[in-house]
Amino acid sequence: MTNSPLLHANRVSKQFSANRWLFQNLDFVVSANEQLALRGESGVGKSTLLNICAGLEKVDAGEVLYLGQALSQMTETDRLRYRRDSLGFVFQAFHLLPHLTAMQNIMVPSLLSGQTRIQAMHDAKSIAEQLGLTSRLDGFPTELSGGEQQRVAIARALVHQPCLVLADEPTGNLDPSTAKQALETLCSICRSSGAALVMVTHSEQAASMLDRQLILTPQGLSEPLAMTKQNA
Ligand SMILES: Nc1ncnc2c1ncn2[C@@H]1O[C@H](COP(=O)(O)OP(=O)(O)OP(=O)(O)O)[C@@H](O)[C@H]1O
Ligand SMILES: [Mg+2]
Repeated sequence: MTNSPLLHANRVSKQFSANRWLFQNLDFVVSANEQLALRGESGVGKSTLLNICAGLEKVDAGEVLYLGQALSQMTETDRLRYRRDSLGFVFQAFHLLPHLTAMQNIMVPSLLSGQTRIQAMHDAKSIAEQLGLTSRLDGFPTELSGGEQQRVAIARALVHQPCLVLADEPTGNLDPSTAKQALETLCSICRSSGAALVMVTHSEQAASMLDRQLILTPQGLSEPLAMTKQNA
């Protein structure tokens, strides 16, 4: 066992170009089972920061550690294993595989983790039901609405019971009532499985459903003013 936090962003910096920084020296820690919302203006770097935490983009300074191990120091195989086994990722633009049905898309992480086809189908059906997708499982991504695609992306991120879920605007394309329902499902599945959740959102209401919020601005990361006052 390790005492290291699940995820630790340690002075993480990313450059636009040679002498322009997108952000510098960002620090935050996410503990197991914790739910953190990340807010901020469009273009401030939230998706980039999430991609860095997923090992999909490199830092230009600092490091992201998963259970004490810097992603940049991992071998490519270990980084792949981290993404495959420990991580669930909901992309802002879904990134569903177009030639696979909703069901097959949701099964992918389980199959990659070495589960049998029968188990993968069982798990996919179960998570799809929780997200209200049962009747749409035979549809290909182009046959699904934006909201349905988004829920498939959420199901795919959760199906293999990852330790850490990174979600980039996971309810951005849903109507308010479906968004609330999908978000509650996302949070409750993470709570019951013990997964930590880092969620980018523009919605103050969505952010308030999580344990903690951080706001990313060109000056760095900070807690929302109201929360700082409350805690003072
Ligand atoms: N690969 C890249 N090369 C150069 N610039 C990039 C790259 N990826 C993102 N950017 C720029 O970095 C900035 C931050 O982008 P990012 O997508 O992280 O913002 P965001 O906070 O997620 O915005 P939004 O809320 O609109 O999704 C943007 O100005 C974007 O154009
Ligand atoms: Mg973004």
